[in-house]
Amino acid sequence: MEKSEVEEKQKKMMILGASALQVPAIKKAKELGYQIILVDYDENAAGFALADVKLVVSTLDQEEVYRQALIYQPDVVITSTSDGPVRTAAFVNEKLGKKPDLSYENALCATIKSKMRDRLKECGVPIPEYYVAEDYEEFSEAVDRLGGDCIVKPADNAGSRGVVLLEPGNFDLMLPGVNGEPEGRDTAPCGVKNEPQSRDRIRIEKPGILKNDVYHYSRGNARNGTVMVEEYMHGPEVSVEIMVIDGEPHILAITDKYITPPPYFVELAHCEPSRLDAGTQEEIGRVAAQAVRAIGIENAPAHVEIKVTEEGPKIVELAARLGGDFITSRLVPLSTGIDMVGASVLLATGEKPDLTPGWNRGAAIHFISAGNEPIGSEADISQALREPEAPELTEGMSAFTGNEPDGVMEEGRMPAAYGQRGEEQGRVIARITVPDALYEQEGVEEISLYKKPGDPVQGTRSSNDRLGHVITTGETPEQAMELGKRILAQIHVEISY
Ligand SMILES: Nc1ncnc2c1ncn2[C@@H]1O[C@H](COP(=O)(O)OP(=O)(O)OP(=O)(O)O)[C@@H](O)[C@H]1O
Ligand SMILES: [Mg+2]
Repeated sequence: MEKSEVEEKQKKMMILGASALQVPAIKKAKELGYQIILVDYDENAAGFALADVKLVVSTLDQEEVYRQALIYQPDVVITSTSDGPVRTAAFVNEKLGKKPDLSYENALCATIKSKMRDRLKECGVPIPEYYVAEDYEEFSEAVDRLGGDCIVKPADNAGSRGVVLLEPGNFDLMLPGVNGEPEGRDTAPCGVKNEPQSRDRIRIEKPGILKNDVYHYSRGNARNGTVMVEEYMHGPEVSVEIMVIDGEPHILAITDKYITPPPYFVELAHCEPSRLDAGTQEEIGRVAAQAVRAIGIENAPAHVEIKVTEEGPKIVELAARLGGDFITSRLVPLSTGIDMVGASVLLATGEKPDLTPGWNRGAAIHFISAGNEPIGSEADISQALREPEAPELTEGMSAFTGNEPDGVMEEGRMPAAYGQRGEEQGRVIARITVPDALYEQEGVEEISLYKKPGDPVQGTRSSNDRLGHVITTGETPEQAMELGKRILAQIHVEISY
């Protein structure tokens, strides 16, 4: 057979996203003999070096990606570990008339939190009480209806951007106008009314729970302007890594999560296998599978986030894709021996991957942060997964300092009021020291830094604020966690102003 004829017959895979995180999937697709058509808006994306066809196109631009798919006629279109491309892949696959591993309608439910909640509710999957707010009035009404602590988050973002805890109890205590005075839209920053009875500004001494600011912060992170208000679920948090094959969810791993203390919720460590008891894990698996079926995932990986409440496991959210934070690319294979990234590429080609575990070991990832947030004790699961205490208010964190400008809060940013130290502004990394010996230690799989000296830092309010990570393994999850914490303690981050 002539070479050109071989090329003619080579199958083509269009992969949406060419960042470094995508490289393992790209390599797997090449290994399977596919010609690779890579799509990314960043022409310098690391994965492009492996592409047969390089397309500098946004993976969120559904129409343009479809137009390119018509030109290149891929046999398979697959996605990355982020939500936008999941929608684009579903859009393109549906338009090309391919078999529906995830229909476009279901992809919307898998990626837009408001639609997801509606679908899960419709299907009777355990979830918290929630409201969808298109404007401040709806938001305010939702907070009043929930009547307790609630989570406010953008309907369509990720990485915990714009996710924040609102404690209306504290709010009422702290704001002026609680004695029957309505709290309205004319509220100035930090909840101080434009025309308070006393002309004096009010100084709020506690971490401010500032309804108006919270709304604008979260809404500023919502691409579609919609905000979710949800009952705050208490309890340990886990994620469930799943491969759905012909509609049947196969649970590969349950991962314990360690999150920053409220008001922000950023993942600081993950560990596998879960240390929750077998009965709880079974319940978690059942609820996760129910959620995956409700969304209508046919043949794809799924990443389901769950809080284990007193009423049982309830869904935080789910994704019809591989989980990020190195959970699927590193922790699952290190802990179980299953190549989850490879399995998902194989599944996309129509083959059935082998999901038999090779072993059962502990694997953990700890994220390096500038804030030294507590992540809980590793000694015992009930402690390790305890809800962290709210951070102490320290000097510079007072809610209203009297010299802040009046006017409407800039959307998407929180004022000093919300756990943000005033002195954080202008902070940069002076040095990150990782002793060489750490890399050599048994059980240390990887130490990686995302930031360098001179880069600005702030507190840890979203995943983007993390500085790097350490991946460790051990015979047990306890050992992997213990080693990770020890390594983390020896990495020094110096900050200068
Ligand atoms: N209703 C809730 N009750 C309790 N905690 C919640 C709730 N909703 C969200 N959280 C917390 O906030 C975190 C981020 O929320 P969510 O996963 O919905 O947003 P996200 O931006 O998609 O985050 P990520 O991409 O990091 O998963 C959750 O992992 C959880 O710790
Ligand atoms: Mg999430």
